[in-house]
Amino acid sequence: MKVLLTGSTGYIGRRLKQKLLKNKDIQLKLYVRNKKALSKNIPEEIEVFEGDTFDKEKLKNALKDVDIAYYLIHSLNNKNYKDLDRISAQNFLDIAKECKVKRIVYLGGLGVKNADTSEHLLSRLETGEVLSSDNNVQTVWIRAGVIIGSGSTSFEIIRNLTEKLPIMTTPKWVYTKAQPIAVSDVLKYLEKSLYLEEKENLIIDIGCEQLTYKDMMIQTGKALGLKRILIPLPFLSINISSYWLNLFTPVPFTVAKALIAGLKSEVIVQNDNAKKYFPKIDPVSFEESIKIAVNEIKNDQVISRWTDNSGKIWDRDHKKEIADAIFVDRKEKDISHLSKEHVYNSFLSIGGENGWFDYDFLWKLRGIVDKLIGGVGLKRGRRSSEELRIGDSLDFWKVVDIKQNERLLLYAQMKIPGNAWLEFKIQDNKLIQSAYFYPKGVFGRLYWYSLIPLHHFVFTNMIESIIKKAANED
Ligand SMILES: NC(=O)c1ccc[n+]([C@@H]2O[C@H](COP(=O)([O-])OP(=O)(O)OC[C@H]3O[C@@H](n4cnc5c(N)ncnc54)[C@H](OP(=O)(O)O)[C@@H]3O)[C@@H](O)[C@H]2O)c1
Repeated sequence: MKVLLTGSTGYIGRRLKQKLLKNKDIQLKLYVRNKKALSKNIPEEIEVFEGDTFDKEKLKNALKDVDIAYYLIHSLNNKNYKDLDRISAQNFLDIAKECKVKRIVYLGGLGVKNADTSEHLLSRLETGEVLSSDNNVQTVWIRAGVIIGSGSTSFEIIRNLTEKLPIMTTPKWVYTKAQPIAVSDVLKYLEKSLYLEEKENLIIDIGCEQLTYKDMMIQTGKALGLKRILIPLPFLSINISSYWLNLFTPVPFTVAKALIAGLKSEVIVQNDNAKKYFPKIDPVSFEESIKIAVNEIKNDQVISRWTDNSGKIWDRDHKKEIADAIFVDRKEKDISHLSKEHVYNSFLSIGGENGWFDYDFLWKLRGIVDKLIGGVGLKRGRRSSEELRIGDSLDFWKVVDIKQNERLLLYAQMKIPGNAWLEFKIQDNKLIQSAYFYPKGVFGRLYWYSLIPLHHFVFTNMIESIIKKAANED
């Protein structure tokens, strides 16, 4: 069976890829927007195609001879995501038909269309409808609501709110019912979809027991050993609630708003096809899924996170833009007495729980300011305390480049009047640390000038601390 996996740099796709790589029945191909974002453990025999769903020629190349294709894509990072998602799905279906693909497996959102349905869910439903609109290609459309797994958006929101707020005032929609599902079960349904014998289009709704969001937060509190009190208030609007989520969880305002808008509608399975077509899959309970997620985090075993998609970093030519940067703060230190590997590991472990050395409080303050103005803030942390891969988010940065024992390049995703990068490079027995800034207009310039005194302390301390840490390892 020749199988093409799209979205393999995203939250679900990264996990499914790991599972499919172990499946001996299939010959796996990957379709990614940038090969660099794939983890290093991809076996050589796996064909990797670069392109996006708007490039029909590249898509054709990737879908050639494919039997089954996974569609795990959405364009939520873009303002016009509805249009992009419709065009993307239509392109995929058209080329799949041309290449005589037998089946598309799509994972979409769960819910029904009514006056309260969020724009985001409507777009996910439309994607499923487009993919299922041609009888020449079968589409297995799996629909999931709240997915619980280490690093999933829903889990991170519930965990952060539960951990941080002993007493929560919540919108009245905490009484809305949903049927969450563990990410490990989602992956089982996705993988087993390869073996379905049915030839017609299928819609398969998946979920464990029915719970309100209030139940989920109380149960999460229990799993974390915390007693929590929720006070639903009728007057909390979508905007106020989204701002609240933005402040107390790692999600930025736009994501919070899309999710809160979705809370108004029930997210309940509409058919019993999961049992009918996958009788051997018995989804774990919500409580169990929370325990699994918490353990993965404790054991530093998080495979993917909600921030994994590229967040449009590949839309930029970083090399050129860095060369054009107007402001540069460059510091260098001799490291001839140190092991390169230790210096590399030292800057690779920066941020997240490990912090930003002596001026960590200033980074935290910058993170709070970013949150207050609707940005991503510092709470995204890092996926693993030691390992980084291209595409990982690191506090308010995104990893754009890593070269073993040579270089780490971070691109700033905080709200900032311009574009900024932070680079650590080992060259000619020196550690070179550079902050690059390309300002937008006068305000961008004022921003940089006003930070010069702080930068002096922060960046001097940073390079010195990196060296000190490496020296301790030597
Ligand atoms: N995660 C959840 O909690 C959840 C819940 C219910 C349903 N789902 C469904 O599961 C599916 C996957 O979601 P996810 O959470 O894994 O998403 P995600 O983490 O945001 O990943 C999206 C993936 O799609 C790729 N992509 C986006 N636009 C593309 C394009 N035009 N061409 C090629 N690749 C493109 C991204 O590549 P880059 O890395 O290059 O950006 C990334 O690999 C979606 O259909 C979603 O509705 C997810």
